[in-house]
Amino acid sequence: MAPVKLCWAPVRCHPCSAGNIDRLVVSDNTLTIEGWLLLPGVRVDSVTVFVNGQECGVGELVIRKDVGKVHPWDEFAEQSGFRVCLQSYPDPVDGLSLIQLVGVVSGSPACCYSTFSQLDSTVGALPTTRLAKMIGSPDRDAYIAQGLKVSCDLLTVMGQIVDSQNVRRILDWGCGCGRVTAHLLKVIRSAEVYGCDIVEELIDWCTKSLPNGSFCRINPSPPTPYEDSFFNIVIGTSVFTHLDRKRQHEWLDEIHRILAPGGIVLASTLGEYAFLRDYFSKGKLRNLFPKLQARKNLFKLRKKGILDGRPNPTLDHVTATDYYRDVFQTTSYTAEAWGKHFEILDHLQIGLGGYQDLVIMTKGAAKRLPPE
Ligand SMILES: C[S@@+](CC[C@H](N)C(=O)[O-])C[C@H]1O[C@@H](n2cnc3c(N)ncnc32)[C@H](O)[C@@H]1O
Repeated sequence: MAPVKLCWAPVRCHPCSAGNIDRLVVSDNTLTIEGWLLLPGVRVDSVTVFVNGQECGVGELVIRKDVGKVHPWDEFAEQSGFRVCLQSYPDPVDGLSLIQLVGVVSGSPACCYSTFSQLDSTVGALPTTRLAKMIGSPDRDAYIAQGLKVSCDLLTVMGQIVDSQNVRRILDWGCGCGRVTAHLLKVIRSAEVYGCDIVEELIDWCTKSLPNGSFCRINPSPPTPYEDSFFNIVIGTSVFTHLDRKRQHEWLDEIHRILAPGGIVLASTLGEYAFLRDYFSKGKLRNLFPKLQARKNLFKLRKKGILDGRPNPTLDHVTATDYYRDVFQTTSYTAEAWGKHFEILDHLQIGLGGYQDLVIMTKGAAKRLPPE
């Protein structure tokens, strides 16, 4: 079979699921993949594994008490584990393989968890632990896996909604130490990739380590130095998730300014799934009557629409102490608030990294907010 070309368009065939690939190793010509895949509130019967578009096998289901523990409100979470051993699978393309795990319910595909993988273990330059900590990713393996997963999710969406021939410039806004940018630079050859961030050290590292990209440090408040309508795509992964509602509006306005008409924004939020996971991953006592607790918590979030008051100290040495937050917001809040700036094309719950939501927007006719 001809190898699948990994450029813009891995296939997304089903709703996204939460999950993770915890182990992926090649040994004695056998590819072993272990992990979990969770479609919230639904019992998945089996997991079919595709490598580079080719169906390669069906995983056996494995009980995962650890997954159950962080999803105590979901009765099927403990049964979300799987393990598969593949003797035959296609070769990587340009060093990458696309792994797709399709959750099957009552004989039909019901959800999908896709990620890129480097089966040959070639990893580019990695930032120091101190730099990686600044973007909330101190663990080396998680850093690599998240970069591959997030870039796969982004490229999947791009492949579906944009014609790569019309894309000249892409900005990774809040690129950190290039966890995602590095993969975009590898896969996207037909457009220029830019990155910007408010932390000088992170930008210095990107400039040194990712020579094909164009990086620049920006201020925590707009404007950026880019010209009007400069980019065709602006990506913001895990950036709005740290800005309060007022700053979100400021930055949505700025992104609108630097985006070309018809351009696309792909930005993540911490939605309802992330909110519950965050809550239940802290403290055992909270796990009493978890379903009830989950309902109460969701009620609180849905009533407010956005909870943007929790400080995150990670960047206190760079910004004012109240700047960086952990911000959770509902789909309907996002539709209402972000819809004032952009036309929202889709909101994929758990659409990024198996954890965050992914909002897909386009710049239509004059939609900028008047100044307050
Ligand atoms: C959680 S990290 C995510 C980094 C990167 N997007 C990724 O997914 O690996 C958030 C990043 O956003 C940056 N940041 C925070 N506020 C920003 C702003 N107003 N403009 C650009 N970057 C910002 C932080 O410095 C940090 O590097």
